[in-house]
Amino acid sequence: MLRVGVLVSGGGTNLQAIIDAIAAGKITNAEIEVVISNKKDAYALERAKNNNIEAVCVSPKDYENRDDFNKALMDTIDGYNLDLIVLAGFLVVLPAELTRKYARKIINIHPSLIPSFCGDGFYGLKVHEEALKRGVKVTGATVHFVDEGTDTGPIIFQKAVEVQDGDTPEVLQKRVMEQAEWIILPKAINDIANGIIK
Ligand code: GAR
Repeated sequence: MLRVGVLVSGGGTNLQAIIDAIAAGKITNAEIEVVISNKKDAYALERAKNNNIEAVCVSPKDYENRDDFNKALMDTIDGYNLDLIVLAGFLVVLPAELTRKYARKIINIHPSLIPSFCGDGFYGLKVHEEALKRGVKVTGATVHFVDEGTDTGPIIFQKAVEVQDGDTPEVLQKRVMEQAEWIILPKAINDIANGIIK
């Protein structure tokens, strides 16, 4: 059984997609050991509790400085003996020590076709605002391994999504989630759990 930890910051719809995929047998040989949020009020934590999954908050607000927060995050993660860490809308840049220690054991979902609209400052709705500003006709989502850079690690899956006339960032975000993120993130976890992706 692959021991999975899911790191979140917000609504947790990608977390829900993983929970649902496990329940539906679309992800096999994996279980979520813990959901960790950097925000106390993240709805993702409720989703975890509703599904009897351990829900933990490690907030930078509870620590004097970034180093102390990073250490607490590392210690929390280390405590669960995880095989895979999934960043599902986790809007914190991971400390290099963590990405080195868990090399090829951390994956991230990003709401664009990397290398477009990624890197520092590109997260959540902002990604879709920029895509619409530039007038792209096709966007999508990417699952990739996490390395020391921001959105730079090896790509696992990408799925394209059409932009439609009159899209707002919110409408586009929802389409990218429904047509891409909620599909390719569970698929990546299943493929890792079953040795299809190494
Ligand atoms: C998702 O769209 C995810 O791709 C994005 O945050 C959202 C979280 O939604 N992640 C990033 O932008 C990372 N750079 P969720 O909490 O409903 O899953």
